[in-house]
Amino acid sequence: MRTCISVSAILLPLLVACSPDGGVGRTYTAQQGVTVYEPHGYDASQHSPSPIFIEELKPSAQEFEVSEKTGGLRPRFSSAFGKNTVSIEVGDADLYGGGEVRSDLRRNGDSQILWNTDNPTGLLDNGKRMYQSHPWLLGVRKDGSAFGIIADNTWKTVLSAKGRVKFRSEGPAFRVVIIEKDSPQEVMVALAELTGKMELPPLWALGYQQCRFSYYPQERVMGLADTLRSHRIPCDVIWMDIHYMDSYKIFTFSPEHFPDPKGLNDYLHALNFKSVYMIDPGVKAEEGYFVNDEGMAGDYFIRDADGNVYGGKVWPGECHFPDFTRPDVCSWWAGLYKDFMATGADGIWNDMNEPSVFVGFGGTMPDDNVHKGGVNGLPEGEHRRYHNIYGYLMVKASREGIMAANPDKRPFVLSRSNFLGGQRFAASWTGDNYSDYSQMKEAVPMSLNIGLSGQPFIGPDLGGFMRDCTPDLMRHWMASGIFFPFARNHASVETIQQEPWAFDPETEDICRTAIERRYKLLPYYYTLFEEASRTGIPVMRPLFWHNPKDLSLRGEQQAYLIGNDLLVIPRWSESPVLPKEGWNRFSLEEEDDGYQSYLALRQGAALPITGVFQNTVEYHTDSLTILVNPDSNGRAQGYMYEDEGDGYAYRDGIFARYSIEVQNAEGTVNLKMNRVEGKLDKGPRFIRMGYVCDDGVIYSQWARGDGVSMPEPKSSKTAIAAENLEFVYLENWSISKKQTKMELIMSNIVK
Ligand code: NOJ
Repeated sequence: MRTCISVSAILLPLLVACSPDGGVGRTYTAQQGVTVYEPHGYDASQHSPSPIFIEELKPSAQEFEVSEKTGGLRPRFSSAFGKNTVSIEVGDADLYGGGEVRSDLRRNGDSQILWNTDNPTGLLDNGKRMYQSHPWLLGVRKDGSAFGIIADNTWKTVLSAKGRVKFRSEGPAFRVVIIEKDSPQEVMVALAELTGKMELPPLWALGYQQCRFSYYPQERVMGLADTLRSHRIPCDVIWMDIHYMDSYKIFTFSPEHFPDPKGLNDYLHALNFKSVYMIDPGVKAEEGYFVNDEGMAGDYFIRDADGNVYGGKVWPGECHFPDFTRPDVCSWWAGLYKDFMATGADGIWNDMNEPSVFVGFGGTMPDDNVHKGGVNGLPEGEHRRYHNIYGYLMVKASREGIMAANPDKRPFVLSRSNFLGGQRFAASWTGDNYSDYSQMKEAVPMSLNIGLSGQPFIGPDLGGFMRDCTPDLMRHWMASGIFFPFARNHASVETIQQEPWAFDPETEDICRTAIERRYKLLPYYYTLFEEASRTGIPVMRPLFWHNPKDLSLRGEQQAYLIGNDLLVIPRWSESPVLPKEGWNRFSLEEEDDGYQSYLALRQGAALPITGVFQNTVEYHTDSLTILVNPDSNGRAQGYMYEDEGDGYAYRDGIFARYSIEVQNAEGTVNLKMNRVEGKLDKGPRFIRMGYVCDDGVIYSQWARGDGVSMPEPKSSKTAIAAENLEFVYLENWSISKKQTKMELIMSNIVK
């Protein structure tokens, strides 16, 4: 009998896989280039409603032509030993994505387990299962055409890219969605159309952020704020880790260490800082603690298979866990933020939400714990079905609570755990890393692959979380990592201090210079974040983005792009493969400290930068330098987006999108900056051009937006000095004229 079962268990999947239809039951086109494949016997109730898609997929009423390029992938479904697999032959395409994983950028030959896990430093399974899961791969063929594969499945799954792409799930048979497009860019746009986009974050979230596990008591936080300002380290956000709480009880403040949270937040705001506070999912199982009492009274906590309220240990000791699959639990949870945010907290950090449980099999709760369901129509189900979306559902509810508490502000939530599509609710960081060179380097492909999985707002703990950082590592990490979309220095409780000034004056200077670069580039960053929120295109991009047909760029994972126009080449990189021509290097400083990343501007690009600001409250774009690198026809082009930096007026048109056009003809360079969209009118501004040549930057004189020439700053061929920008702004600013068009004529600066 036994033999019989195992033989059929082996043969059946083979037969299915060899059957002409590959086990495919139903196929339909949902949109141009988006095909849905359901296996035979597909039971939609086991997977739907899908948390991945913003709308349930259905056959499109329109008929689409299937071109030769598209429609080439054929999934083959099989089932054996209780596991369901889809396998797809992808030829010699290069593969990327799969969300968070310790790996090379190119995923060919690799595999990972999609099962959200508290995995400090990625030691478990060598980092092949991490804090968040993205059942998704992007493929780029040799001719530059591209495809994406979504396995619409939340259950534990092994994703492998060894020859064929395979998703082998412990759950019931699932469908796959295949996107076929002419380029990776188009695939990312299609992914975002299906799974949603990050909403435009507040501008402050793009600034530098200072964190530690933990800054306490509150006087120490105030002291930190003072030191950041007195040391002139530009910074926007100070983070409060678990020690601000009373005995690690969420939604409380330690009466001893944080007796006056409102006073603390007021103090930080007066210095133009924002505050972000940690909220974990585990609720201390203590009678008399209001969150636990409310949760027990409302029956909001997850129960085990025997029907008892489940208890698992995290920081506060025994904890109960809200069941975020339930709408009433989410409303209750969201409501808890009302009083909390009223203290003046600006953002929320949801940690430990894999969920992490210290004592327990696999570091999480039992698979057979029960979720009651109801959110968006999710049915009741076991934890094994909902584990991977626990964090996703938590940040969704948190975000709703923060928005209800502060309806006029844009919410900011950072999450450690998430799932494909979760970029709609929270930004991410890559969890606990080590302060070592290899993890600094790994952060580049890891963040790039998360970006290529739909999450644009991502970055590692700069400086490294565990183990003591060294001055040299800190300098390298800050100089190469400050360009990641999310730029936060964070260190663990047992480590030495890791603030820029904690090492020596030289390290402090190098960190300051790096952070100042981030602030100078803010007009460009904000433009890219707005683009990501509109299109889904990542902020941080792999080099092959520049030219998907250039196969030499496909594996580059040390150097990276910010947007299409800025190339960042870390000083630690060894023989990075760079685009062959057209990119001109430039520096933003007069002197090289030996650590700052090399920067290069794409040929044909016009990129707006400003001077240095200590924070985004002070930030403005009244003085802009447009860095240009005209192409062989003498043209360069760029965009700049701006709005009020917070709130929602931009949705009513209170924003400005400028096109920047540069034309170089016969020794004269013409720069035009036109407002092409939006109603925000900032009046004339001071503007100059930085012509990026092979050997440096030549700066034009300053001109005012209304054409009035300004005196030339100190030298014509130097790096940008912040004082020049400040000087022009302070001495000569005029807001008398309304102007939508600026023209700057530069003569005789080009050979
Ligand atoms: C784990 C997080 O990954 C880390 O960033 C945080 O500092 C600790 N939890 C303490 O809250």
